[in-house]
Amino acid sequence: MTPWTDRAGRFSPLKAVTFAGTLVPALLLAWWWARGALGPRPLTEAIHETGDWAIRFLAMSLAVTPLRRIAQWPKLINVRRMLGLAALSYALLHLLLYVVDQKWDLGKVASEIALRLYLTIGFVALLGLVALGSTSTDAMIRRLGRNWNRLHKIVYVIAALAAVHFFMQTKADVFEATIVAGLVLLLMIYRLAHRVSLPLSSPVVLAGIAVAGAAATAAAELLWYGLATGIPVSRVFAANWHFAFQIRPMWWVLAVGLAAAALGWVRLGASVGKGGRASRGAEKGGEAARAAA
Ligand code: HEM
Repeated sequence: MTPWTDRAGRFSPLKAVTFAGTLVPALLLAWWWARGALGPRPLTEAIHETGDWAIRFLAMSLAVTPLRRIAQWPKLINVRRMLGLAALSYALLHLLLYVVDQKWDLGKVASEIALRLYLTIGFVALLGLVALGSTSTDAMIRRLGRNWNRLHKIVYVIAALAAVHFFMQTKADVFEATIVAGLVLLLMIYRLAHRVSLPLSSPVVLAGIAVAGAAATAAAELLWYGLATGIPVSRVFAANWHFAFQIRPMWWVLAVGLAAAALGWVRLGASVGKGGRASRGAEKGGEAARAAA
């Protein structure tokens, strides 16, 4: 099976587009590097870019299952593994670039990872990704059976660790880190709602999850500023209600959650319409049969 064919060996446009999409950031990075467009410290810039893409692909892989259900698009599952492996590949490249930055001094790399908490957390997240990546083959899925599902649930812990690593290394502006953390929180709330069997086909429930996700994002941001900086949390909270300078992360997370709820609403309408037409068709067929009899 190639990255652009499905299990039956047929060409899959969805897989082909996703595969191409996973390569774009690496190709762009290589292109910018070759042209000297990465600024005065290209290696540092590349470490940041690969870290960003590792966590973005990880978040996308987590979004596959909710989106598949909400959009009623079962084929989306075909790209989940690819997105997860893309996250792992970018994380490994991220580590490799860090090792290059440390002039291949593996002893120094090991001691930095052991001594700096944010690197230790990143390392644990990477180990988790390696565990998931190495058990993602069909043979391993068959071999592990039910344990595969249990193991792969740690993906949420890995995403949380990666988000903390992102926050901790960001010195001043935690805007993107908060958005990524907020989206992961939104996905976690969705998962929790699924676990307690809330009716997730209801757009109202999905809208409620969007609001809860936005509130969790604001809480995570307050917690960060409260713990890591001297900025009073009341000022951070108040900033959420001023839109002139910047739209704060909680609103972006709310927008994504509400977009998912709107999609659920459209898909629900479409399937009810189809059901209605199908049953009206069946009624008409019945009438015709009765008339013919
Ligand atoms: C051994 C494992 C890892 C090491 C040594 C490592 C190292 C680093 C370093 C040195 C930085 C830049 C810090 C700075 O400039 O001050 C960084 C940033 C970052 N790392 Fe990692 N990291 C690791 C694992 C991970 C993993 C597994 C992920 C995600 C899945 C990740 C995501 C990020 C992100 C998102 C950033 C911030 C990028 C930005 O500011 O734009 N890292 N990491």
